[in-house]
Amino acid sequence: MAGPPTNVQFMVKDSKKYAATGGWGFAQFTDGKPDGEAVHKTCFACHAPAKDRDFVFTSYAP
Ligand code: HEC
Repeated sequence: MAGPPTNVQFMVKDSKKYAATGGWGFAQFTDGKPDGEAVHKTCFACHAPAKDRDFVFTSYAP
């Protein structure tokens, strides 16, 4: 049985507000509480290889 969620991640597109990170705002919540800026700074660097797919790794099946 699945337990309660412990870690939730979001990406929000806003090309003006988040222009420095490909138009994406990254957010992570641990145990329901938002994590700090230090955590969020790590997100974009690791998503950079997916630049050709707008920094999103997964895609809908065709
Ligand atoms: C160590 C590298 C790495 C870091 C750091 C990282 N990600 Fe990801 N992320 C991935 C990979 C690889 C996938 C796709 C694989 C998968 O679905 O498990 C992914 C998938 C996602 C997805 C699903 C959409 C997609 O791109 O497929 C979201 C949303 C996401 N990450 C948000 C975040 C957030 C928010 C942070 C920072 C708190 C973050 N990621 C940090 C590597 C990373």
